[in-house]
Amino acid sequence: MCPPEHFAVTYAINPWMRPDSPVDPARAMRQWRALRAAYESLGHSVATIEPVAGLPDMVFAANGATVIDGTVLGVRFRYPEREGEAAAYQSWFRSHGYARVHAAASVNEGEGDILVAGDTILAGYGFRSDAAAAGELAAVFGRRVVSLRLVDPRFYHLDTALCVLDGSTAMYYPAAFDDAGRAALASVFEELIEAKDEDAEVLGLNAVSDGRHVVLARQADGLARSLFSRGFVPVPVDMSELLKAGGGAKCCTLELRNQEDRP
Ligand code: ARG
Repeated sequence: MCPPEHFAVTYAINPWMRPDSPVDPARAMRQWRALRAAYESLGHSVATIEPVAGLPDMVFAANGATVIDGTVLGVRFRYPEREGEAAAYQSWFRSHGYARVHAAASVNEGEGDILVAGDTILAGYGFRSDAAAAGELAAVFGRRVVSLRLVDPRFYHLDTALCVLDGSTAMYYPAAFDDAGRAALASVFEELIEAKDEDAEVLGLNAVSDGRHVVLARQADGLARSLFSRGFVPVPVDMSELLKAGGGAKCCTLELRNQEDRP
């Protein structure tokens, strides 16, 4: 995670961002600290990266890399405003003992668009990451990659429209995908929970699941009820200040899937 020390909305690269309406940096920091505390109270360990001045979106650590079994694929951002983050995240991995750190050739915005479901990698494209990133993912991680086209600009990253809950279950917003994407998801997951408009629109799908606990926007109460009825434990957090940049809990979180974590 990256503390939102320099968080601001000074440019607009997604429909949520309004540089003319104010953000409250102290409130963003309180919300971020509460998110971090939620992970720690669930027994997860949190590592942080030093925020860099002039990179207001660096708080969205999900966009920093993709890590599977200790192998790291770095990112390349679509927009120059975020370009500087790529090197900062890559050097974090190099200085924290990760031996396999690959630089990205195609545009890929890390776990914003790249999600892991069991042995399959799901790769979103259409707004940010290039479709060509799929080939690179297959080569670097040696796994099957399923490409998913995103079609609604409000859900510009895959992690705003889909959350993997465990190896066989996901929750998603069907209208963010095309027919081929919906069919692909139906073949990957045994169970798909559909988010209603009002839950998707507070970025309720931008959630983090450890297979049992699901940390998600507290405003997404319909989703929380669906999760609860299926045996998951919803853990509500308020990310309303970070939502002004188009981010939620998952955006603030890069999962470090290290080799020793493998069951
Ligand atoms: N303002 C950031 C951007 O548009 C938000 C990134 C959200 N991150 C995510 N993983 N969806 O790039």
